[in-house]
Amino acid sequence: MPHSELRRFDRLYVGGEWVAAIDGEPIQSIDPATGRPWAVVAAGGAADVDRAVEAARAAFPAWRRTPGHERAALLRRFADLFRDALPELIEAECRDTGTPVTDLRVSLPAQVQWYHWFASLADKTQGTTIPFDDSVHAFTAKVPVGVVGAIVPWNAPLLATCLKLGAALAAGCAVVVKPAEQTPVSALLLARIADEAGFPPGVVNVVNGTGARVGARLVAHPDVDKISFTGSTATGRRMLGEGSGNLKRFTFELGGKAPHILFDDADVEQALNAATASAWRLCGQSCALGSRVLVHRKLYDRVVEEFRVRAGRVRVGLPHDEAVRMGPQAHAEQLAKTLSYVELGAREGAELVAGGERIADDGLAEGYFVQPTVFAGVANTMRIAQEEIFGPVAALIPFEDEDEAVAMANDTEYGLTAGLWTRDLARAHRVANRIEAGSVWVNTYSFVRWSLPYGGFKASGWGRENGVGALEPYLETRTTVIGLDGSFADPY
Ligand code: NAI
Ligand code: MG
Repeated sequence: MPHSELRRFDRLYVGGEWVAAIDGEPIQSIDPATGRPWAVVAAGGAADVDRAVEAARAAFPAWRRTPGHERAALLRRFADLFRDALPELIEAECRDTGTPVTDLRVSLPAQVQWYHWFASLADKTQGTTIPFDDSVHAFTAKVPVGVVGAIVPWNAPLLATCLKLGAALAAGCAVVVKPAEQTPVSALLLARIADEAGFPPGVVNVVNGTGARVGARLVAHPDVDKISFTGSTATGRRMLGEGSGNLKRFTFELGGKAPHILFDDADVEQALNAATASAWRLCGQSCALGSRVLVHRKLYDRVVEEFRVRAGRVRVGLPHDEAVRMGPQAHAEQLAKTLSYVELGAREGAELVAGGERIADDGLAEGYFVQPTVFAGVANTMRIAQEEIFGPVAALIPFEDEDEAVAMANDTEYGLTAGLWTRDLARAHRVANRIEAGSVWVNTYSFVRWSLPYGGFKASGWGRENGVGALEPYLETRTTVIGLDGSFADPY
């Protein structure tokens, strides 16, 4: 597609129809590689949320009674159509987020299997029979929670949507998806795919718009039973208050500031490959990445030097370029945030070893490109070590021994992921067992898959996505007790 052509998406997807927004202004999706709009998308407001929630509520009773194997069949058809649409999905995700196509060609096809995983769970929401005594027969059933608002961020929108939409639909919930305003296009493609797959009208709805208008209304809406949210910890906290009216259920996948620990007995080459990848991949825009690199004192100088050299080797550039390994930041505010943390790091007394600047080269100056950045001499108490930057900024922190490494790894409000590199099997188990994080990766990194539960300890979130329990957050447990012996006496 030529860069000059502005794509227009002038509808929301509500109740199985493509409808004009009632009370919102269209939003532009800026291509972060060029700084120019590539698409204009209809966006709604509170009235559009209300209409979508009404459609979801109306669809829910029949959807929840649809047999699990039929919901599974629809999800499998959806997965097949998703696979057929991959070229288009890759293009939209690339334009919306600036993620290199070479990354998307790996990550997006994997989502086909993700949808199949959720499909495979749709007819397995079994309850239990509970033996009590001969006077009753007691059993539980898992029932869908109801109408779900899926609020999605801009860093990996298709994956974040997949984890919520796939699980919620498999569980028998009706869904209203609220994409991030910076990356509004790919969810519209998903809506088209859901429509083609044949989901009943109202089971899947997509309402674009801002967090302040559409997101906030979805969270506050009295007829939304649950919010599944991926995004910042600050926004998650705010949602708790805004959603308290009807005691909504929440699943939160929030920020991270993962430690990546390099012990002195590590396979250093492998550890460096992983640690640099997890510092700079996706331009640093993933909650899973290991931006706090904790390095044993014996390795520290070597690791600092390797990070410096490798930062210079990262091919940063246009995301459509096959040779490019790092694209731009996804939007202008994120670029500004990252650059402000670079300044902060220098003020805090960390040593800038590499990068730190916006890239002004020919062809990149209008985009939101920033150099892969390395700070050495970082103390774990510094804000650049404690706060989520979401840019390609590695903070290299030395440690003396295992206890200190563990203490620093856990000394953060977050607890989403962690990595550690050691050849000592006992140490691997010992340290992994002491890390307060939802995922610990030993001698590998960012290993996130459909079958592996994923989510945060502490301020990184509530609940887990993926795994055999992936539908749990979308289900309620109902306990039924049936009296068997006619022994209920008149108490008066
Ligand atoms: P955010 O958490 O504010 O936005 C994520 C989603 O929430 C978007 O769809 C947004 O429209 C919606 N939203 C925002 N305010 C809302 C409200 N009051 N009610 C309902 N929905 C609302 O994140 P933001 O501001 O885009 O990014 C700021 C920082 O958050 C990033 O720099 C990064 O540190 C972190 N972040 C973490 C993510 C993760 O994967 N855990 C993803 C995106 C951002
Ligand atoms: Mg925000």
